[in-house]
Amino acid sequence: MADDKHDSITQLAQIEERILKTYQVISCQNLFSPENSFLYERCKGRKILIISGPTVSKLYGQKIQAYFNYFFPLQGHVNFLQIKTGEENKNLHTVQEICKAAQDYKIDRQGIFIAIGGGIVLDTVGLAASIYKKSVDYIKINTTLVAQVDVGVGIKAAVNFHESKNEIGTYKFPLLSINDPSFLKTLNDREIRCGLSEMIKMGIILNRQLFEMLEQRFQNIMQHKFDLSKMKQIDCDIISDSITGMAAQLRPNLYETDTKRLVDFGHTLSPQIEMTSVYRYKHGEAVAIDMAISSRIAYLLGKLGLEAFERIIGLLTNIGLPIFDAEICTFDNLWMGVEKTIIRKNGDFNLVIPLDIGHASFIFSISDFDPAILRQAIADMNIISNCKLTLASKYEKRACHLGR
Ligand SMILES: NC(=O)c1ccc[n+]([C@@H]2O[C@H](COP(=O)([O-])OP(=O)(O)OC[C@H]3O[C@@H](n4cnc5c(N)ncnc54)[C@H](O)[C@@H]3O)[C@@H](O)[C@H]2O)c1
Repeated sequence: MADDKHDSITQLAQIEERILKTYQVISCQNLFSPENSFLYERCKGRKILIISGPTVSKLYGQKIQAYFNYFFPLQGHVNFLQIKTGEENKNLHTVQEICKAAQDYKIDRQGIFIAIGGGIVLDTVGLAASIYKKSVDYIKINTTLVAQVDVGVGIKAAVNFHESKNEIGTYKFPLLSINDPSFLKTLNDREIRCGLSEMIKMGIILNRQLFEMLEQRFQNIMQHKFDLSKMKQIDCDIISDSITGMAAQLRPNLYETDTKRLVDFGHTLSPQIEMTSVYRYKHGEAVAIDMAISSRIAYLLGKLGLEAFERIIGLLTNIGLPIFDAEICTFDNLWMGVEKTIIRKNGDFNLVIPLDIGHASFIFSISDFDPAILRQAIADMNIISNCKLTLASKYEKRACHLGR
């Protein structure tokens, strides 16, 4: 039928899709024990491509292989691929490598990719799974703390592209996202710190109790790395607290149509910091620097009290996370990060700033933000970071005065 006003426009068909999709984030102890058929039950009868990086393959490869040999004795059903890790390999080339291996192993559309690793492996495999044969199922097995509390909860899967972090990607529902806490035992201190950085973020924006638990228990966590045989259940529960908070924030806005996302706290300047350090700073470390600067901005704007600011800086430094880098955190460089954020957010700024521990808000528009505040925050953080706050000097015996 011709439209009255536009004779040349005729609707030939209207296509709609209303599919309710769902996935679960699950904690499963001893996932690869031969007594545990949980994973087998979820992928039996399908061809599988298992993808991991060199460290996970070295530490867990034999155990994982033994599990699949036990449950899938038939040749050819399960295939393994090791990919290179590091941000420099988180790119379309590696995505293609995964697709090529899947093609060589004749993985069909009923096949499953199983990603076992940290955020880099999960993101790269997620993107490959979304384009191989126009989409195959994939299971995330999250082996770092960052992966367990953050990457494994959401549906984003992106790789770096031409000097831009996570520039090419998609939103891909996993079939399942699985945390086995026993993987965390082999993480080095730096990787644990990076995960704690994401958990501190959740504490600052939403959950004062989580923040206070981290303040009280971080030494124990660093020492025992969530090993239940050596820690109290309450220490391990902070992982689930963090995930529950994250899931509640992501659920109504999975495709990020609303650019006001509290979980973006620490993620405005951090991509620029990560990239211009040529990935010398890991994701969680760059997030820590961003959280420190954003907190200082909040303090300078009179939105965050001095005590709360000190507690944020105190926790980050006590854990051993960086809070500033004078070489990277120049005004020009960070402002470039601001501009990239505005492009990414379709013109919005929505910088997340804490108002207290457990409570945050936004600077919505760039027109409400005086660049001089960023300049001042940088100058202040330069001084504060040189004071090297220690646990002992956190409050009363502060080595330098953080107020103005
Ligand atoms: N998609 C998302 O929503 C999302 C969210 C946050 C971060 N990310 C991305 O995730 C990446 C960071 O993830 P990450 O911190 O897990 O880093 P990563 O993937 O580089 O892993 C860190 C290191 O730990 C090693 N490792 C993994 N599991 C191990 C284990 N159990 N024992 C010992 N070593 C182990 C890895 O080989 C690697 O060397 C970044 O690229 C970031 O952009 C994505």
